[in-house]
Amino acid sequence: MNINHDTIIILDYGSQYTKLIARRIREEKVYSEIVSCNVNIDKIKQFKPKGIILSGGPNSVTEKGSPRITEGVLELGVPILGICYGMHLIAHTLKASVEPSNIREYGHAQIIRKESPLFHNLPESLDVWMSHGDKVSQFNDNFNLIATSNGNIPAAISHKTMPFYGLQFHPEVAHTPKGDKIIQNFVFNICQCQASWDMKSFLDQSIQKYRQELENKNVILGLSGGVDSTVTAALLHKAIGNRLHCIFINNGLLRLNEENEVNHLFQQDFKFNFIYKDESGTFLNALQGVSDPEKKRKIIGKIFIEAFERAAKDIPNITHLAQGTLYPDVIESVSFKGPSVTIKSHHNVGGLPDRMNMKLVEPLRELFKDEVRNLGKELNLPSNILLRHPFPGPGLAVRILGDITPKRLEVLKKADAIYITELKKHNLYDKIWQALAVLLPVKSVGVMGDYRSYENVLAIRAVNSTDGMTASCHPIPHEILSKISTKIINEVAGINRVVYDISSKPPSTIEWE
Ligand code: XMP
Repeated sequence: MNINHDTIIILDYGSQYTKLIARRIREEKVYSEIVSCNVNIDKIKQFKPKGIILSGGPNSVTEKGSPRITEGVLELGVPILGICYGMHLIAHTLKASVEPSNIREYGHAQIIRKESPLFHNLPESLDVWMSHGDKVSQFNDNFNLIATSNGNIPAAISHKTMPFYGLQFHPEVAHTPKGDKIIQNFVFNICQCQASWDMKSFLDQSIQKYRQELENKNVILGLSGGVDSTVTAALLHKAIGNRLHCIFINNGLLRLNEENEVNHLFQQDFKFNFIYKDESGTFLNALQGVSDPEKKRKIIGKIFIEAFERAAKDIPNITHLAQGTLYPDVIESVSFKGPSVTIKSHHNVGGLPDRMNMKLVEPLRELFKDEVRNLGKELNLPSNILLRHPFPGPGLAVRILGDITPKRLEVLKKADAIYITELKKHNLYDKIWQALAVLLPVKSVGVMGDYRSYENVLAIRAVNSTDGMTASCHPIPHEILSKISTKIINEVAGINRVVYDISSKPPSTIEWE
């Protein structure tokens, strides 16, 4: 909640695009927060919203039991924009008819618009992206039709006396090229928001807030070396200085030299209160003979909690635990649909706060990943940290398929380091969302010099993504792939074949385990 800035609330009816709506609004420097469509009116009032957006969703308002508009929302007197299901809800609630469309418009469509503040300064004909099977079929005296699609379906409506609008299409997706302009019209012209929310003001306010909230308190934070925990540490250090105690547990599953880099950054460069524990032996012992991916994750999670607790014991009077939780993790749990099925148990340190009986401090819980990077820039963090690819908590353990042995770890660390270094050398690293190397439990025959070799296969992978939920293979040029392969096979004893993973997510996942 950020009541110092004009806020647009998005009620989430379960659309896959809900997060995108929030991002688009924040890109306009207006604060936006997603709340579940089931939330009660008092909670909505606390935000003092300047406008409300009802998201799309998979349901049909014609179905019994489909989600409705929280009582009191239409009476708040603030502008409301319904997108897709949200539009049908406004229409249905105010007694216009909604029914399944006989022409099902999915994907690209064209609309012809009329005069409306929502379409201010836009051309008469617009390309848009549709994705719903229902339509507003019959109007009553409440509504004006303000746009029609080429399939003759009502594409936009406005209420005659209230500032309520509905769009059959999705202005938030890139396939609606002028969608950002429609969102700007809603946010600035209709809701009269001021563009005041940026990372500088977020940082200043957060520092002030935590200075007050954590006065005389001691806070611990688990560092991973990644962007989120580093930014969390830098922000809290600005607020409470040496009352922040950073703990860095080396689980032995990090990238080559990563522990040295993190130690150097926090001890030499930042000079934060910093505790380093090398627990690699404990982790590797516990993982001996374990090949099941979920078992690996569970073991790593458990040992991490124990190691963290041991390290924290030496610090007196700790009351708070800081974590780099991001907004996408928070909204998973408020969405109408609820959390999706567990494909992989990612949140492997989830048990920590309960076990340690501490209050949580989560300074990034309102931010998306790219916003965290911008915040890191405001904090003058080095760009090699801010542009670092995501790295899973269980580290290389889920990139060594099958048993983890010190020898296999060493092989993967060396190969991975060559791969990442080559990507940086060819200016590809920053264009790729995540790159990884996977050591397969497969041996293949090769020939090295005059000798037959029988060694490991390494898979390399590079994906483009925005949030890790979906991903496509990054097309690394063939000649660069060949160079990488040659270098790895020449320099890493134990690998005689390199393959490139070209699958997308779904149906594959990014990691192999
Ligand atoms: P998948 O493999 O599920 O990965 O497509 C999506 C993103 O999540 C990361 N990942 C993890 N992160 N603990 C983490 O903290 C985990 O157990 C874990 N497994 C996957 C993965 O690297 C990718 O960025």
